[in-house]
Amino acid sequence: MVVLFVPKESEPGETRVAAVPETVKHLVQAGVQVIVQAGAGTAVGIPDQDFVHVGARIAEDYAQGAGSADMVLRVRPPKEGTPEVNALRPGTMLVTGLQPMLRLPLVKALAEHRVVTLAMDLVPRITRAQNLDVLSSQATAAGYMAVLLAATHLPKFFPLLMTAAGTITPARVFVLGAGVAGLQAIATARRLGATVEANDVRPAVKDQVESLGAKFVDTGINPEMEAKGGYAKEATAEYLQRQREILTKHVTAADVVITTALIPGKKAPILVTDDMVRGMRPGSVIVDLAVEMGGNVEGSVKGAVVTRHGVKLVGEPNLPALLGQDSSRMWARNVQAFLKLVLKNGHLQPDWNDEIVKAMLVTQDGQVVHAGAAQALGAAQGAS
Ligand code: NAI
Repeated sequence: MVVLFVPKESEPGETRVAAVPETVKHLVQAGVQVIVQAGAGTAVGIPDQDFVHVGARIAEDYAQGAGSADMVLRVRPPKEGTPEVNALRPGTMLVTGLQPMLRLPLVKALAEHRVVTLAMDLVPRITRAQNLDVLSSQATAAGYMAVLLAATHLPKFFPLLMTAAGTITPARVFVLGAGVAGLQAIATARRLGATVEANDVRPAVKDQVESLGAKFVDTGINPEMEAKGGYAKEATAEYLQRQREILTKHVTAADVVITTALIPGKKAPILVTDDMVRGMRPGSVIVDLAVEMGGNVEGSVKGAVVTRHGVKLVGEPNLPALLGQDSSRMWARNVQAFLKLVLKNGHLQPDWNDEIVKAMLVTQDGQVVHAGAAQALGAAQGAS
């Protein structure tokens, strides 16, 4: 019988949990023994008792759960050099958010520890893998929360109001980067009654933006800006310069700017300069969703709300954690869809040739098998 462990996340500010009672119930029914660390769901309103109710056992601490597990499910990766890695048995399958290129020492430690690591953020963007895609599910939560944060920081209403005290004009929201998070931000801002504009570099986006009732600001979309899987390619310095010139008018007219522009594996492009912030009305708000990847906004600070030229720059790095219950539910369902690929009749039987499993695999049999990470680690070793 496979023993699966769900620890309590240890990253400060992380509220999410990688399994919820709904998914644990399915696992138990499939013949898996599930152990949940005490308090794993407390931060998102899931008491231990709810896990017990669907057949899970509670481990009082991490070592107790990890020490007997064949498989561990996490949202954030374990910390290198701590019992979070050291307590895992060799051969344990770890299914986690990882971003391996940003955590090379950890990847190396996991390989040395003979952990079989699969990264949920490496799920390929193919139709068959859509229900495993944590990047999409968590970006949905982030886009939604970005608007709610902006609305609470903005000293204005979002909707048009006609009251006895006169008319209140709707807030103007500008969304930069209209991928999964951006489209959700547009939809949420529209539901709150704001007037919304949006910009992106990929051609598919214009129709999607307009179908949500927002105006598309064209800074020159080009089929060549779209890479494999629907991601954007890095824009040239000339393009970004011209783009910023066009964006300035729209940024300075906005009450709220939400930036979500990302390029996989690269630093986020700067779309809003300090001069553009200076041109905005005092009291306006910018939420920079790209802050963890260097930010789209000059001056935004990860983990802080800073005021520049009277404009609030919100740099909350983990918006899905603020919506932890539903973010966890979505993450857990994504993981459940993944588990269908590796569990057969309650036994661990991964098909290592499955293109989804292959794409997610980072360490196995003591080796770093993720090509990019292996290359970077090899290069680092060669240099030392
Ligand atoms: P992302 O989080 O990497 O990027 C966010 C957005 O920023 C993208 O729309 C990108 O085009 C935009 N961006 C990059 N540089 C920019 C710039 N200089 N100015 C303005 N915008 C810029 O991407 P995300 O949201 O994860 O996915 C993008 C697209 O991928 C989706 O809209 C969808 O079409 C596709 N997709 C496909 C899936 C599948 O087939 N399974 C699953 C999820 C997404």
